[in-house]
Amino acid sequence: MSLSMEQEFIKALKGKETVNTPVWLMRQAGRYLPEYREVRSQAGGFLDLCYNPKLASEVTLQPLRRFDLDAAIIFSDILVIPQAMGQKLWFETGEGPKLDPIEKIKDLNDENSDELLDFLSPVFEAVEQTRSSLPDDKSLIGFAGAPWTLACYMINGGGSRDYQNVRTFAMQNPDEFQKIIDYLVRSISCYLIQKIKSGVNAVQIFDSWSGVLSANEFYNYSTLPTKKIVENVKAQYPDVLIIGFPRGAGFNYQTYIDETAIDCVSCDQSIPLDQIKEFQKSICVQGNLDNLLLLNGGQAMIDQTHKICDTLADKPFVFNLGHGVIKETDPDNVGLLIKTIKEFKRG
Ligand code: CP3
Repeated sequence: MSLSMEQEFIKALKGKETVNTPVWLMRQAGRYLPEYREVRSQAGGFLDLCYNPKLASEVTLQPLRRFDLDAAIIFSDILVIPQAMGQKLWFETGEGPKLDPIEKIKDLNDENSDELLDFLSPVFEAVEQTRSSLPDDKSLIGFAGAPWTLACYMINGGGSRDYQNVRTFAMQNPDEFQKIIDYLVRSISCYLIQKIKSGVNAVQIFDSWSGVLSANEFYNYSTLPTKKIVENVKAQYPDVLIIGFPRGAGFNYQTYIDETAIDCVSCDQSIPLDQIKEFQKSICVQGNLDNLLLLNGGQAMIDQTHKICDTLADKPFVFNLGHGVIKETDPDNVGLLIKTIKEFKRG
């Protein structure tokens, strides 16, 4: 690809000016789309879909056929890593993910990156197939869960509101917990490197549960492990662009930005726009429309979208939600949102 052909999304991540505001949405492929539900049932179930390269690639492309999005995010789940590390994973309808909880590092497979990558090879195949069928001006994003968020699911065995038991585990067994985090840092690094090798143009690290941590814990279990992953990935691919999403991290966002060396920070809807503007002095920012405004649509959604663009679109910025698309969302609301962003003109 020639330099002039550089994707708008990639330009923004690099801190360059863009013609329009690049946009993609977390969970843009998923149950709010009837064509997704159809392919998922064809695959047999959610995990069958994740490990079927052809169908995973198909659902990755679906939202781009409907909407003028700048990037596709490769369809998979953050929990395929614990599964590849030997943990039992299943999904119960209406209840979300379930895992056989681990209590110590020995409950996981011995560390072997070849075995891990072998288990996850359908994901890399999906990346290759998707990249080859995407137009050159559209970006492909790879992702992984951050160590803390994966450890939450691995130790708790499923979702929770506050992960008190996981924080208690870390307080009572700091050495064992650190070993789990370190193992995850290495697995996630290998996984992201392989996704980049297979063709993704950028990666996002989801720390969905970083908001339950105290400031000290946040530094040790979110900032430091993310910094190590960024170092590992950039040691192999110095030019690759990395987005970090420390959801709910509030006052910890700034240290996370300063210390991890990520290229772009994804902000949840609790961060005030003038604070995001501050972050933007040092880094590209992504976010942060409330996913509930998207669910409800209409003028309130349009007004907030204009406000976000007015505040942020003159500097490196990628439009996104503060968290993923909710499954009851009307696809027409997504259409209206994307149209509003693309028609926005800086005043
Ligand atoms: O379009 C995309 O964004 C790509 C696909 C994607 C999925 N999961 C598909 C999915 C991505 C990026 C994820 C990340 C993910 N998975 C996160 C981090 C982002 C976040 O939301 O905070 C987390 C915490 C998970 C774990 C997970 N997977 C949960 C909690 C659930 C249940 C959620 C629910 O709404 O039921 C899943 C399942 C899941 N992952 C679905 C999809 C489309 C729904 C499964 C289905 O089709 O039935």
